[in-house]
Amino acid sequence: MCYVRLRASVVPATSPSRVHELPVDEQAVYRRLDTERLPRHVAIIMDGNGRWAGKRMLKRFLGHQQGAEAVQYVVETASRIDLPYLTLYAFSLENNLRRPKSEVNFLMRLLRAYLGNNVQRMNDNNVRIRYIGRTLELPSEVQDKMRWAEEATARNTGTVLTLALNYGARSEIVDAVRSVCADIRDGKLGIADIDEDEIHRRLYTADMPDPDLIIRTSGEMRISNFLLWQIAYSEIYVTDRLWPDFRGLHMLEAIEDYQRRERRYGGLGDGTESDDVSSLPANTVLVPR
Ligand code: FPP
Repeated sequence: MCYVRLRASVVPATSPSRVHELPVDEQAVYRRLDTERLPRHVAIIMDGNGRWAGKRMLKRFLGHQQGAEAVQYVVETASRIDLPYLTLYAFSLENNLRRPKSEVNFLMRLLRAYLGNNVQRMNDNNVRIRYIGRTLELPSEVQDKMRWAEEATARNTGTVLTLALNYGARSEIVDAVRSVCADIRDGKLGIADIDEDEIHRRLYTADMPDPDLIIRTSGEMRISNFLLWQIAYSEIYVTDRLWPDFRGLHMLEAIEDYQRRERRYGGLGDGTESDDVSSLPANTVLVPR
């Protein structure tokens, strides 16, 4: 094994696998996976906290509290299988604008508590936390906690956990377009320079690969303004399970399902022969009646 010098300590350049730390049921699913084709980036729309609470005649906030518990289980599994990127839709711009102030305040308190209580666990799991969204619009005490957690985990080299907070994909694209326009105005960019890469570089996710797999809990067949640009070719997996009941096991099952899909990126599938159209008459376009 080769070693690299990192600050004062010497650590292995490739960290040993932590798959043996998975609970037994998760190990069973993991063993069925093709480890050569694991996704690099999984993004999750966490939905159903309110319904989870409603089914138990509990207040909605208790659903959010259980939802925060579920987050840590899933992050732990992600880190054990060495998933490079996990992105969680934790608080949308629409949540911020359309939910009662009392619920928004509770979610902000929960986020602070989550960060305060889990940074140690993130460090134990080599997880680095970061954020996407219009986070400068969040309350300053929340921003302080976010910055603290980001700095406290900045040296970790395992899973990058990205929380989407005060996030909306359309406003992300608006922010990218504004940045392009500013560079054109300042003479740093010409119209002809604008291409997909140029837009990609200005998204909040510029330094991450696009999600391979997007998971939505609670059965809703919607994308809800999440990563609209980045999920152009992502595989989508929807489960009826409500977010507070979602665990690493279910993420591994989603990955298993993903591995059964054939990703075509607009091309033909493996082994599909293209028709030879060269011998057809030139006017063979419409089916004759
Ligand atoms: C949807 O439940 C979920 C959210 C509003 C965002 C997700 C929030 C959490 C998982 C809790 C906190 C997260 C962290 C990272 C601390 P919903 O209220 O829309 O559920 P419903 O559709 O059943 O009403």
